[in-house]
Amino acid sequence: MKLLRIGAYFLITLVFYCSGSGCAEYVVSVDRFVFTPIDRELIPSQSATIEQIGNRSYLSGHLYLERSVDNVIALASLEISRPNLPRVRLFNSKFDLCGFLKNTYKSKFLQQFHYRFVTFTNVQPSCPLKPHLNYTLERSYLDERILPELLPECSYFFNVEFREKTKPLANLHISGHLHPVLNKKKGPKNRVKT
Ligand SMILES: *[C@@H]1O[C@H](CO)[C@@H](O)[C@H](O)[C@H]1NC(C)=O
Ligand SMILES: *[C@@H]1O[C@H](CO)[C@@H](O)[C@H](O)[C@H]1NC(C)=O
Repeated sequence: MKLLRIGAYFLITLVFYCSGSGCAEYVVSVDRFVFTPIDRELIPSQSATIEQIGNRSYLSGHLYLERSVDNVIALASLEISRPNLPRVRLFNSKFDLCGFLKNTYKSKFLQQFHYRFVTFTNVQPSCPLKPHLNYTLERSYLDERILPELLPECSYFFNVEFREKTKPLANLHISGHLHPVLNKKKGPKNRVKT
């Protein structure tokens, strides 16, 4: 899967701080969390909200389907941008939503996403997704483990298009900012090529 090749696409020189106990940690803030149904007969009701508490953005929402769905393909892309630099696409890949829900993908990114989204729901979603069941997401949050390692301070843009065969069902957009949290012990400045 292409997603595993993030490193290969990411030929940027990063500047980050390392201390004896490890590298700088990040806080992932979310500014936009938007779920847009395209097939409104399938998705008559949904919501997506953000609550900012302290340095953390909590995501909640619900999804209600009118009929059962199976075999959903997700087309996902992640881009980052920094001031005065062009946007960089870290990946653009296709995955099977049922495989994602079963957590069969080995990608660390998808496993973190699974943990953040699937374990914060009222009912563990599995395929086929059931109709007339209100799947709710309760105050999940993203943290630095969700993103590929060694990212600079940046804005990120994560988009997913869900399709059933070739029919678009919905779009998901999550974007925000990645802030390094300066460590208590600040070490030497390193320049690292990934
Ligand atoms: C937010 O993060 C900053 C920078 O790391 C820290 O100084 C501050 O105490 C944090 N605030 C809260 C409410 O956690
Ligand atoms: C589903 O749950 C959400 C959150 O609890 C609620 O706001 C929404 O009205 C419910 N929708 C349906 C169709 O039951």
